[in-house]
Formats: sequence, C-alpha cells, structure tokens
Amino acid sequence: MPDSKVPQHIAIVMDGNGRWASKRYLPRIAGHRQGVESLKRCARACDERGVRVLTVFAFSSENWKRPSEEVSGLMDLFALALSREVRQLQADGVQLRFVGDRAGLSARVLQHMQQAQDATAGNSRLVLNVCFNYGGRWDILQAASTLQEQGLAFTEENLSQAMATAHVPDPDLVIRTGGEQRISNFLLWQSAYSEFFFSDVLWPDFDAATLDQAIASYAQRERRFGLTSEQVQTGSA
Ligand code: FPP
Repeated sequence: MPDSKVPQHIAIVMDGNGRWASKRYLPRIAGHRQGVESLKRCARACDERGVRVLTVFAFSSENWKRPSEEVSGLMDLFALALSREVRQLQADGVQLRFVGDRAGLSARVLQHMQQAQDATAGNSRLVLNVCFNYGGRWDILQAASTLQEQGLAFTEENLSQAMATAHVPDPDLVIRTGGEQRISNFLLWQSAYSEFFFSDVLWPDFDAATLDQAIASYAQRERRFGLTSEQVQTGSA
C-alpha cells in the first residue's frame, strides 16, 4: 500500500544548469553535464522514498531557439548519457520512457532513445519519463488529432488516454528548480490538480535534502480536487 504522503509521481522542471555553469566561469554545457549527474542522484533518491514515477523536462519544444552550439551540445550529451547509463538503469530497475515529438530529432538520437527504451522496457521499480522535444501544447494538439483520426469523442477521458504520458497517472507533485515560478509549457493538461513546489536551488545542486523538503511540503497539503475541505475530511462527496 503506497504511503499517501509520498507523491507517487513527481515531475520536475530542471532549471538553472546555465547559471550554475556561469557562476563557475564554465560553458553552459558543463552545467547540463552536471544536470545529468543530478538527475541520476534524484532518480535514486525518489526510488528510495517510494516514488514510482519521475518525469523530467530535458528539452522543450522551445529549446530549439537556443544558440545552435547549445542545442547540438544538448543532443550530443543526451545521446552519450543514454549509451553510458543504460546498464546502470537496467541494474537499478528503472524503466526509461521518452515523451515528446520525435519529428526533428536526428537518426542518431532516435536510435539511442529506442535502444535505451527497449533495453529497460521490462523494469518496474521506477518509471523515468524523459520529456524530450516536448511541449504541453504540442501534447494536447497531438492527442486531439489522434481522437479526430480515430473518430473518438472529445471527452476528458479520451483525451487523457491519448496524451503522451497516458502510461502513467498524472503527477502529484511538480517541482521547479532555479528560482522561476512558471510552468513553461510543461505538463499543461496533466498538472491540472498537481501540487507545486518551487526551489531556488539550481538543478545541478538539487540533492536528497531538497527532494525531502519538497516531499515534506507536499505531505502538508490538502488536495481537494475542487471539493471543500469539509467534504475531503468527511469523505462525503
Ligand atoms: C534548464 O536549465 C535545463 C535544460 C534546458 C536542459 C536540462 C537537461 C539536462 C539536465 C540534461 C538531461 C539529459 C538527459 C540524458 C536526460 P537552463 O539551461 O535554462 O539554465 P539557466 O536558466 O540557468 O540558463
């Protein structure tokens, strides 16, 4: 029986890699490299705390507008990290899933994604969704197109089933690091009833202690899903 005080699904906007690097007079890509280390640490800590799904925003639909050397650096890092980490992910029982638009990604990146996804498909300790070339608006539009193509009614249930994250429940807790307090086209549909936690910590510095702060804050919230507090407490709705 999962502990209801521990979010079963955490989604994270991993912001602040560039600033972490700038503060050290390093190129931005060094911050992204450190961001991968932070993600590995975070996945392990989530698993230890009983979180079942971790979803991270690794590359947004809008990130293509960054300087071309940063975009190609992120693509290279992504491909390298996938080929390097798949063995450890396998050992840790992590199921890797890629969420986002495949169009526009190079054959090399697509191949690494496919290999990593296939190799970890049988794992079930923790689902790690990596949102790559992802945007919440893109997701809603692709889901709507799917319903139209299949001649299905535009209902909340059908649309949810057609979203790119239909294989997992909606996030209980959305964390954003790096001091900004906005959603930046992340899981727009799926975060309708998520709790939010904002931290000033830059993503490469995110550690188990910050994760625990976020989980402790979540544990104090009353999730009402549109009901009154009294209804929630008496279970009368
Ligand atoms: C935001 O920081 C971060 C990103 C746009 C990229 C995040 C990517 C990673 C952590 C690597 C993921 C790789 C794998 C293999 C999943 P920013 O660059 O916007 O930082 P800033 O706001 O300080 O400039």
